[in-house]
Amino acid sequence: MEVDKRITTIQNEVKRTLQNAECGHDYSHAVRVCKNAEQIAKTEGGELAIIQAAALLHDVSDEKFSNGNTIIGLKLTENILKKAKFKAAEIKKIIEIIQNISYKGGFNSNGIPSIECAIVQDADRLDAIGAIGVARAFHYGGFKNRELYNPEIEPQDFANADEYRKSNGPTLNHFYEKLLKLKYLMNTPTAKEMAEPRHQFLLQFIDEFLKEWGK
Ligand code: ADP
Ligand code: NI
Repeated sequence: MEVDKRITTIQNEVKRTLQNAECGHDYSHAVRVCKNAEQIAKTEGGELAIIQAAALLHDVSDEKFSNGNTIIGLKLTENILKKAKFKAAEIKKIIEIIQNISYKGGFNSNGIPSIECAIVQDADRLDAIGAIGVARAFHYGGFKNRELYNPEIEPQDFANADEYRKSNGPTLNHFYEKLLKLKYLMNTPTAKEMAEPRHQFLLQFIDEFLKEWGK
């Protein structure tokens, strides 16, 4: 694949910006999401540079990491895109993708504005399931000092994004609350297909986990 210089600039900037990020949302996550997105785009189309830029930058502005402040991160994202010499209209499109892909407990209901957005959202969701998904969930749980599992705490149905974000439940509950739903939420047929073995892996993992726990 021919390398777009603008994407190389973005790679370097994202790497620098996410240096101290929590490992589940670090530069390697951005790279994996970008690879997933490139694979989906091969069959689903969309403008490749827009997809790559949005995939690499999607977590730079995550409000989880700036105490709910989305403005700082979005400004940073915009500056990186300007530095890489994306045009104003492209920057607008990329920012729009980033603002619309977040899961937020399934309450981010602005809709999917473009095929590029659908692809990047699917690519991000693929990285939340499978073996990487398991590793990221427990890593995030550790970061928040959550219990691995507690049979006395049932998985929850959250009423809104805020409740979802504030939940302190054990990490295994997150599998039921979010991860096992993702396969059904894929926008594109290609991502749905890619999700299948990863979904099966989650089921197998839960099964083995509960067996070893002694349920
Ligand atoms: P988004 O950033 O798309 O809104 P989330 O913040 O819900 O999505 O989750 C991003 C990733 O962070 C998840 O896929 C998972 O790996 C991890 N994560 C988020 N919340 C939890 C949680 N309560 N328990 C374990 N992992 C979590
Ligand atoms: Ni992400």
